[in-house]
Amino acid sequence: MLKKTNSYIYQTAFPMPATTKPEIPWKSWQNWKEILQGLYPGKPTFTEVELQQVLSLDDNNHERVMIITGGNSGIGLELIKKITKATNKIRIYVFARNRDSTLRAIENLPQVHYVHLDLADISTVKPAVAQFLTMETRLDIIIHNAGTMHPRQGHFTEQNHEIHLGVNCIGSHLLQHHLNRTIIETSRSHRNCRIIWVSSTSHFWAPRHGLYFPDPNFSFTTPPSALTLYSQSKAINIIQSRLWNMMNHEGGGGGNEEEEEEEERVVCVALCPGYLKTGLSRNLTSVENFFGDMITHDAAWGAYTSLYAAFSPEVDKSGAYVISFGKLGRSRGDFDVDGDGNLENMVRVWRYLDDQIAEYK
Ligand SMILES: NC(=O)c1ccc[n+]([C@@H]2O[C@H](COP(=O)([O-])OP(=O)(O)OC[C@H]3O[C@@H](n4cnc5c(N)ncnc54)[C@H](OP(=O)(O)O)[C@@H]3O)[C@@H](O)[C@H]2O)c1
Repeated sequence: MLKKTNSYIYQTAFPMPATTKPEIPWKSWQNWKEILQGLYPGKPTFTEVELQQVLSLDDNNHERVMIITGGNSGIGLELIKKITKATNKIRIYVFARNRDSTLRAIENLPQVHYVHLDLADISTVKPAVAQFLTMETRLDIIIHNAGTMHPRQGHFTEQNHEIHLGVNCIGSHLLQHHLNRTIIETSRSHRNCRIIWVSSTSHFWAPRHGLYFPDPNFSFTTPPSALTLYSQSKAINIIQSRLWNMMNHEGGGGGNEEEEEEEERVVCVALCPGYLKTGLSRNLTSVENFFGDMITHDAAWGAYTSLYAAFSPEVDKSGAYVISFGKLGRSRGDFDVDGDGNLENMVRVWRYLDDQIAEYK
């Protein structure tokens, strides 16, 4: 079975001390500040008004193309409403698994289109991109927004990956892989394309270095808490945002100015949208939801975090970590590329993801 094979390979290839559970690093004061910030995020800094200003400053006010995964509900749908209210110059493609709910959600929005994609079955990724490429030749922005948290059923994907890892990371890794050529091509004629990974503050509860290398799918280890599984996937989203440029430009710039210039044509960032009332918490217990309701905000506010990450001129460098409701924050230290040994571990995570999608490229 693939599930066993994957874990076996990674246990063998990356021998680690025989631990029975992942190590979750202690949180520093700085980390707690970041976590608590989500309770009192303040006002959005980048709204529909700023979006219109940014678009009007654009040289030719050219048309743009954007993909939002999971744009049929929650933060993704609220983001679409904000963009379509501000401009009709951006064509949006919602990659989602639920045809009926997506068509219902976008029915009065002629600039928004539906493409079928189920991230829990990565055989659907290539056909989704093929369908998209029959309609468009450019891609300016992609928001990897679709995500799952603590589903009641289906703890593994069709390809036998742990569901959070599979949907939130491996599926989107493959999707990004198939879109790389288009976004890089687009960035040659129009700078400042963006790839955005919707992560979460919960990444602070992820195993050290993000992925639990000895058993990524927890096939052999006693399954940890649902929080650890979700957090692992959200930490990996930050790694995906930090390494994309390096992995897609030979040498990652490597001090060569021309290459570095080229690199920043695609700005790649991760974000935590905020603590929000959405369908994501549908499987929490009633007690968790009772307390959750006290600290969460309307999904529409969280969409401002994504709007800022996607369009604000302040987000001009890859590697940024955006927090609610549109400002720059700091992710956990082991995901800083310049920390001791961090890059090496992050590359291992990237290689792991690459291996999981190899058959579906
Ligand atoms: N809400 C929060 O407080 C919060 C905080 C931090 C981060 N986030 C992140 O924000 C993102 C958006 O979540 P949300 O809060 O807006 O929740 P949501 O309303 O449940 O949206 C999640 C979206 O992901 C889609 N999705 C789930 N599994 C999928 C699959 N296998 N294939 C394709 N699409 C799939 C869902 O589609 P269906 O409608 O078909 O289920 C839905 O459209 C997630 O990545 C989440 O981790 C949320």
